[in-house]
Amino acid sequence: MCGIVGYVGDNKSLEVLLGGLKRLEYRGYDSAGVAVIDPDGHIETRKRSGKLQVLVDNLESDPIRNGSTGIGHTRWATHGGPTDQNAHPQLGDNGKLALIHNGIIENFWALKEELLAEGETFTSDTDSEVAALLVGREYRETGDLTESLRRVVARLHGAFTLLVMHEEQPGVVVGARRNSPLVIGLGDGENFLGSDVAAFVEFTRRAVAIGQDQIVTIRPDSVVVTDFDGQPVETEEFDIAWDASAAEKGGWSSFMAKEISEEPEAVAKTLLGRITDGTVHLSELDPIGDEVLANVDRIIVIACGTAAYAGMLGKYAIEKWSRIPVEVELSHEFRYRDPILNERTLVVSISQSGETMDTLMAVKYATAASAQVLSICNTQGATIPRESHAVIYTHAGPEVAVASTKAFVAQVTALYLLGLHLAKSRGTLTAEEIAENAAELQAIPAKIDEVLVVSQSIKQLAHWMTDTQSVLFLGRNVGYPVALEGALKLKELAYIHAEGFAAGELKHGPIALIEPGQIVFVVVPSPRDPNSLHPKVVSNIQEIRARGARVIAIAEKGDAAVLPFADEVIPIPLAGSLFEPLLAVVPLHIFGMELAAAKGLDVDQPRNLAKSVTVE
Ligand code: F6R
Repeated sequence: MCGIVGYVGDNKSLEVLLGGLKRLEYRGYDSAGVAVIDPDGHIETRKRSGKLQVLVDNLESDPIRNGSTGIGHTRWATHGGPTDQNAHPQLGDNGKLALIHNGIIENFWALKEELLAEGETFTSDTDSEVAALLVGREYRETGDLTESLRRVVARLHGAFTLLVMHEEQPGVVVGARRNSPLVIGLGDGENFLGSDVAAFVEFTRRAVAIGQDQIVTIRPDSVVVTDFDGQPVETEEFDIAWDASAAEKGGWSSFMAKEISEEPEAVAKTLLGRITDGTVHLSELDPIGDEVLANVDRIIVIACGTAAYAGMLGKYAIEKWSRIPVEVELSHEFRYRDPILNERTLVVSISQSGETMDTLMAVKYATAASAQVLSICNTQGATIPRESHAVIYTHAGPEVAVASTKAFVAQVTALYLLGLHLAKSRGTLTAEEIAENAAELQAIPAKIDEVLVVSQSIKQLAHWMTDTQSVLFLGRNVGYPVALEGALKLKELAYIHAEGFAAGELKHGPIALIEPGQIVFVVVPSPRDPNSLHPKVVSNIQEIRARGARVIAIAEKGDAAVLPFADEVIPIPLAGSLFEPLLAVVPLHIFGMELAAAKGLDVDQPRNLAKSVTVE
């Protein structure tokens, strides 16, 4: 939440800041602002409520002078509504200092009272202005921007990334972070700071992640990182694995359309190098070690939203293959319920962004309670992998649309690889069984390609449904998390009431919702599996049809049994039961997107949301 970018270098701050904010806008889009030190050595700021384009248009019609030092911010409001005044940068030291902030300063009220008592005046309702005024006050005393920020962060409670610059210090931007992301981009005669590498990937592929409770001072030719006590810290450089074009829309109508089309590639890249000769190799688990893994007697998957639905699918596969009991829990529920953890518990956190505050805090909780923590993450340099014992990166590439699509299939793929790895090390599957399941996984990308082609018909369906008030989604077994994911996509993208149910639960209450015309998507399991729940799901379809529901079935190609009872059938290729969700979810992603587009909504930036939820 909130995108942050900082730059020191030659005279192109504005281009860097606005380009970076464009790539970070998915983090928050209710207001945006920039500050630069102009050639006369004065801070110029411009900030506007609304999407970034409002600021860009404003700067075009009424330009400010470019400079060699600047900071920029795109906001997801926490304290104070999305107004021009509450947008960042916030100013301190009588307008000579500019500050941007991501996170929440929990003790801001006490600090604000202290500043008010000293006669400071406030121009916004934000907690961030408190930090700007405090750093300004310290700067008046020390004349040292890094030291001033260090003194202030020692007094702040909560989560924050702060960037600050002062007009008496051109060519210097100082950043600090606690429980909120910040990454350095290393340039040639210029350096960058960003909430994530997308902020500067256009200019450099060399990056350094900043650790917890650290302060960084960038100048055009130097980068100095210390801890909050001023002690130097070791940093590690990494190469950004994708180029700027990966985070561009290309010719697509939306990032989401592009990202759904990349679902086959997201699976393929996540498998790359991890299956050879029919067996699974996850060297990423080495830091935990075979001995520790062999002793694991329980797995708890923690995640939020779509990532948690991926986790539910992981439970089916891991339990079936490795016979280790798996629980799946929402991160924000997990850490507040005093969970029972010990060194034999493997906690698997799943996060596309690697920054979700609820999941990060749950990871910290688990490590403190001696559990082993493995993260499944899509973002290099993110905080959650750094706080975990081991990490399996999904290689879905940057996901820019706020609602997650390609990351979901990549997360499921990574969890299935984990299941097969554990089954191999415990001997719960034979080598042949592992090879069969690995082959199923490897066949998924081509099958998703097929689904993408047949799912075009769903566009038309979506266009007929723009007045729909409510849609239900049913699934059983592995179809259940798919139903939940379909419902979430519709809610967040098309603002339509939607609910996902386990089909077996229908008669225990939800069937009362069925009235003539009610649209129900049903994820139908394959009829080929002898243990399949296919007949039971077909009965469920008949029950709701009898009460007037309009049924859209997602069913295996050639499933004749479902045809007489469904109003529409979206066919998916044949796959083993556990693998069907990777195919069945794709039409639901497309449906959510198309219905939102048909309603004229912004598919990439749904209202009230931000991609990376870095506040609790
Ligand atoms: C829904 C969606 C969210 C995220 C959730 C976790 O489309 O994108 O539900 O899945 O906020 O985010 P990460 O995976 O970044 O931790």
